[in-house]
Amino acid sequence: MYFIFFGPPGSGKGTQAKLLSDKLKITHLSTGDILRAKIKDSDKLSLKLNSILSSGNLVSDEIVNETVSESILSDKCKKGFILDGYPRTTSQSNFLISLLKEHNIKLNLIIDFKLEISLMEKRILERSKIEKRSDDNIEIIKNRFKKYILQTQPLANIYKEKFSNIFSELDASEDIKNIHNQIEKLVKNAQI
Ligand code: AP5
Repeated sequence: MYFIFFGPPGSGKGTQAKLLSDKLKITHLSTGDILRAKIKDSDKLSLKLNSILSSGNLVSDEIVNETVSESILSDKCKKGFILDGYPRTTSQSNFLISLLKEHNIKLNLIIDFKLEISLMEKRILERSKIEKRSDDNIEIIKNRFKKYILQTQPLANIYKEKFSNIFSELDASEDIKNIHNQIEKLVKNAQI
């Protein structure tokens, strides 16, 4: 089972990926989580990553591609994965598509979470009270959203055409349970 979740910051792709991965016992591959874990290493790379994530800019394709390919080819992804926050750029997408082809991995479902910016900001600011992520403040949210609109949304639109038979859009403004139920239905109907 191989899934990709697209969506702007705060659209709930991480929340839903976690719920689904727990249910299906497949790996939730969040590049954001992986990068935040790397920051804790306190080495030269972690300082660089910290400054990029805190500004809401994107980490280099090279670093992210290497990290993702290591995970995808590891045993933990043998049963499947949900990619959350990857690919985000054309270069990442090209890398992923050729990696999957090379290893004969066929995507089963791609979900694009749709959410308007006001709700996105509300959710992220709410989360900032509890989680204290360095990029969860109003200035940085705007930059993260800008990056999404410029780089990732066009990519999702390409996937919508290229993988039209496995691509679905979801109204991410609904409640968590409702969205999870919709995703379960999509999974049930997916050709796996
Ligand atoms: P990343 O961690 O991927 O952040 P993001 O894409 O900005 O997404 P979020 O984690 O903010 O939101 P989400 O859609 O997962 O929503 P969530 O479920 O958390 O990336 C962070 C940074 O890492 C990037 O800016 C970049 O620097 C770097 N990075 C990551 N991937 C990269 C890549 N591929 N290339 C280059 N750089 C990369 O929900 C948000 C909140 O809303 C939560 O509090 C949740 O409880 C709540 N919530 C969720 N669903 C609902 C709902 N339906 N109703 C009400 N509340 C909800």
